[in-house]
Amino acid sequence: MFKRPWVFIRGVPSMNFLPPEGPPEVAFAGRSNVGKSSLINALLGQKGLARTSNTPGRTQELNYFVPDGYSGAEGELPPIALVDMPGYGYAKAPKENVDAWTKLVFDYLRGRATLKRVFVLIDSRHGIKKNDAEVLTLLDKAAVSYQIVLTKADKISALAMPKLIESTKEAIRKRPAAYPEILATSSEKSAGLGEVQATIASFVS
Ligand code: GTP
Ligand code: MG
Repeated sequence: MFKRPWVFIRGVPSMNFLPPEGPPEVAFAGRSNVGKSSLINALLGQKGLARTSNTPGRTQELNYFVPDGYSGAEGELPPIALVDMPGYGYAKAPKENVDAWTKLVFDYLRGRATLKRVFVLIDSRHGIKKNDAEVLTLLDKAAVSYQIVLTKADKISALAMPKLIESTKEAIRKRPAAYPEILATSSEKSAGLGEVQATIASFVS
């Protein structure tokens, strides 16, 4: 599945434009600039597939990616879809836009029956912030399975990582919908991708 190319099939600006529920979906959520789009590109080995930027607020729609050959056009459903999401928190964009896409993110996360797992990305340098905790609480309440993925591991020392993983594990220990294992990744260095890929592969229908 990670050997064939993946393609972008749809950008969803509001709930009305979501594709009909069908294939299992895995979503990438997190604060603006945490590295969601970069992680998708690294996982798929396709630089430039999901658009990335140094400016927070780059991704402004729910962007659907599927393995090529399953666009759904001929009625054939893809075996899985990856959903890149707009970030929450600070973004360099007009407030109305940010409010609209934040609502979209929250509505999608709590109301999508085919959503199998949400990777909640956390910047290794910053840890879980207040707005991350709000999203985790929303997912706990909606009973949507999620897993924390630490990003930009190359930005902290190798010695600091085990401690960060332990403290993050402790922070989510009592959260009912949290998958207990914390993953650490660097898209820059292509590190820690295998476990994320294996998790995605486990949801393929
Ligand atoms: P929004 O779409 O704006 O919410 O951002 P995003 O979460 O999709 O982040 P994006 O992938 O666009 O990356 C933001 C910035 O972080 C870019 O400048 C990336 O090059 C950088 N970045 C992403 N992943 C890594 C990483 O693993 N290591 C380092 N050092 N930089 C990274
Ligand atoms: Mg993005």
